[in-house]
Amino acid sequence: MDKFIIQGGNVLKGEVRISGAKNAALPLLAATILAETPITITNVPNLKDVNTLVKLIEGLGITISYDHNDVVKADTSTLNNQFAPYELVKTMRASILVLGPLLARYGEAKVSLPGGCAIGSRPVDQHLKALEALGAQIEVEAGYVNAKVDGRLKGGEVVFDMVTVGGTENILMAAVLAEGVTTIRNAAREPEITDLAHMLVKMGAQISGIDTDTLVVTGVEKLHGCEYAVVADRIETGSYLAAAAITGGCVKTTHTDPILLEAVLEKFEEMGAEVTRGENWIELDMQGKRPKAVSFRTLPHPEFPTDMQAQVMAVNTIASGFSTISETIFENRFMHVPELSRLGANIAVEGNDATVTGVDKLSAAPVMATDLRASFSLVLAALAAEGETLVDRIYHIDRGYEKIEEKLQGLGAQIKRVSE
Ligand code: UD1
Repeated sequence: MDKFIIQGGNVLKGEVRISGAKNAALPLLAATILAETPITITNVPNLKDVNTLVKLIEGLGITISYDHNDVVKADTSTLNNQFAPYELVKTMRASILVLGPLLARYGEAKVSLPGGCAIGSRPVDQHLKALEALGAQIEVEAGYVNAKVDGRLKGGEVVFDMVTVGGTENILMAAVLAEGVTTIRNAAREPEITDLAHMLVKMGAQISGIDTDTLVVTGVEKLHGCEYAVVADRIETGSYLAAAAITGGCVKTTHTDPILLEAVLEKFEEMGAEVTRGENWIELDMQGKRPKAVSFRTLPHPEFPTDMQAQVMAVNTIASGFSTISETIFENRFMHVPELSRLGANIAVEGNDATVTGVDKLSAAPVMATDLRASFSLVLAALAAEGETLVDRIYHIDRGYEKIEEKLQGLGAQIKRVSE
């Protein structure tokens, strides 16, 4: 298993190019199922999760060419089954995103239930309920969702009980080929949903209310291919800005967009960082200062994202003062806390609230990555810690951060990967 060895204490400075968003690339790849003619997606990050979905889509018989650089081309004319097996789905929850498009275009799908994951039980009841509202007949049997519909799905009214990103994406991809009008209420408004909606429109879909919590979709009979570039990864952007904040450095993230993470940028400013927003770049200059502790609560977009909680907590561990952090999206997303504590952080957790008392310094220790974003928080803490930290189980990080050691080295970090 690969590990990182990180020598802390360097002040990070320089420019880093942000990749396409993993969480946008995955639904866009699933949406290729809907296109009757070849489709090309660019700015696709080369990540383990992307490879998993490419493999799953290939398993459906779709012809995919993926250059592992940043272009995926898909041709659905060779599709020969609608089956997503447990072996692939269990490694990545987002695999459930093929359910809506398969059902909408081919009238049936058999997709494994994703099961739980480290950060909580994460059911898919909302996805299934929404598809049923469009006329799907769904049975869950032996760990599989068996879905079918006679003829086309029928437009209808979908009201989500909670804001769900994946649920909104699944139903949006189903509704675009349904007969009639579908209204999706309490829809998630994450930038990745906007990206998906824009690509679907380019494919010939009719969607209004994009960027709001009510999406109105008028179904069409067919969708065609197009060429589309994945939006910038706002979480990767925020993670590298956090690296500047925790080391007192100055980092410019390029090929990104400040509008995607305004709530996070405001927190960095509250810490005392100077944040400059360009049209497609963001620079964070901490000017060698110690950050001030900032409190926040994770909420659906446009509020503070749960996927940045661990990284900003890491910065808080060495900030002046104390902060409270409430995690309202997932029930078990503080697994990085015991690991940060091993590096000398002072954090108390009660239920879904954490209180962080900033310490003067962190010091190196062996730690273990527990999930994707938590892993980056350990890398951040290691960059600020005195001494050499070993971060184990970094396969979690490889799911979602492209060329992480190369990018961090480019900013002056001392990080190397060791394989066993
Ligand atoms: C997506 C992101 C993930 C991010 C999360 C919240 C991808 C690939 N992943 O995950 O990085 O952390 O949004 O911004 O885009 N829920 C239910 N029933 C459902 C669906 C969801 O109870 O049918 C609950 C979940 O357990 C969770 C909450 O709703 O507590 C939000 O989940 P959701 O927005 O669906 O997250 P994902 O789409 O899985």
